[in-house]
Amino acid sequence: MKIIPCPSSPLLARRIAEVAGLEMGNVTFKKFPDGELYVRVEDCSEGIIVGSICSNDDLVAITLLLDAVENAKVVVPYMGYARQDRAFKDGEAVSIRVVAEILERRAEEVITVNIHSKQAASHFKKLKDLDAMPTIGKHFAGRDVIMISPDKGSMERVKVAAEHANCEWDYLEKTRIDATTVEIAPKSLDVENRDVIIVDDIISTGGTMVEAAKKLYELGARSVSAACVHAVLANYAAIKLFNSGIRDILATDTIECAFSRISVAKLIAENI
Ligand code: R5P
Repeated sequence: MKIIPCPSSPLLARRIAEVAGLEMGNVTFKKFPDGELYVRVEDCSEGIIVGSICSNDDLVAITLLLDAVENAKVVVPYMGYARQDRAFKDGEAVSIRVVAEILERRAEEVITVNIHSKQAASHFKKLKDLDAMPTIGKHFAGRDVIMISPDKGSMERVKVAAEHANCEWDYLEKTRIDATTVEIAPKSLDVENRDVIIVDDIISTGGTMVEAAKKLYELGARSVSAACVHAVLANYAAIKLFNSGIRDILATDTIECAFSRISVAKLIAENI
């Protein structure tokens, strides 16, 4: 059994191989002049393909590798297309259903990390959805911080991270004061003069983090940092976060970037 890295996750694949004590497969990727992708995997009858789906090319790379490796499992640390987990309007494709069909047609098992929703997961039959919140929590263990969920929906996730960090946690609650005013504040904790970590599953455009950070600074937080599993950081989101006063962005390596300083390699290695 070898680890087969995709272009989106070379470092995480390497880390998983090291932790799991597995060899790396020898894989070649080439692009033809017309943009078509070519893959070749040498001497590998059994493999674990590791690649996040951050782009259409990433999905094509995984699809081709699933053909090249005879008995394959696939690890998709960041499962793109998962936000389109239902038809919101008539005539829309349910994108994650299509991705699930592509992956499961050839893979023995599909492993991912914090998929967008239960609805997205429901389109898979052989999915193992791992939770990186304990890993994020452990990263902050021993620090005097408060973890805040930007909304009630992410509260359970943040609770898990905070339990592993052994710190206090809360969520931002929206209270409608009148027809035009909505008040946003932590449900019960006082953040004045505290170092706050806003924890979420994903930072995409950064809008959620920026709104939460502004509010926490208004309430007197000493510092606000952002932590997430998937640092999508679309449309210059990192700049937007820093402009809002956010001190640091910490993410896992499900999406490899400058902010992925917390590795999910051990979590994945233990589950393959
Ligand atoms: C919402 O359901 C998620 O947990 C995130 O809060 C959201 O996807 C973040 O998106 P953005 O960075 O675009 O605000």
